[in-house]
Amino acid sequence: MSYELPDLNPRYEYDVGELDEAALGSDPTSGLRLWLAEAGERDPLDFNVMVLATVDPDGRPAARTVLLRGVDDSGNLRFFSNTQSRKGLAISANPQVSLLFAWGAAHRQLHVEGICVVATAEVSDRYWASRPRDSQLASCASPQSSVIPGRRWLADRVAELEEEVAGTEVPRPDNSVMFEVRPVRFEFWQGRPHRLHDRIEFTKTADGSWTRSRLAP
Ligand SMILES: Cc1cc2nc3c(=O)[nH]c(=O)nc-3n(C[C@H](O)[C@H](O)[C@H](O)COP(=O)(O)O)c2cc1C
Repeated sequence: MSYELPDLNPRYEYDVGELDEAALGSDPTSGLRLWLAEAGERDPLDFNVMVLATVDPDGRPAARTVLLRGVDDSGNLRFFSNTQSRKGLAISANPQVSLLFAWGAAHRQLHVEGICVVATAEVSDRYWASRPRDSQLASCASPQSSVIPGRRWLADRVAELEEEVAGTEVPRPDNSVMFEVRPVRFEFWQGRPHRLHDRIEFTKTADGSWTRSRLAP
């Protein structure tokens, strides 16, 4: 039986905004910060949600959601995760990743492509210390992406750990780290009326400067 989705297929008119090329500047980091700030004003809860795509050694792509935890002074994008997870193993074999922010209500998307590395222990420790104790315990208890016997098993592990570390700080496991994406390409996409959308691409050149181009929508 076929299933029609009439209500999920509205004709969008992309008329929320336009892309101010001057505001984007010549270094995409300022545009990244600007769009994050504007997304944060619109949606303080979800603005830092991004999709991280990796490719494993067999060439198989995989995508999942992670949260942007910060942009460092060099313009690297940070997220916190597990080196032994499916994504962590893919990254250690192939550090080329893509990030995608999809800010649908603003008719915007921002693509970032880059090289993903593990940040310094100091960066990971600082973020770890800022996390609520419950989240720390959950990270310690969960062998991310592994098959587990059931939910009860996880709850029992959290309870055991809680007893073990009672009265002390929860140490950061070696596999819980901040990852850093060093960008080599950005694409700022802004929906415009009549499907004449704006697409501004920045690519990093060998000398570290950025080249800016306009792409056809
Ligand atoms: C809104 C949202 C935010 C998430 N943020 C993170 C995150 O910051 N870090 C993380 O490891 N997983 C996060 N996850 C879970 C991942 O999407 C994913 O399930 C998990 O990292 C395991 O992925 P993998 O098996 O591909 O490694 C988030 C999921 C959602 C829906």
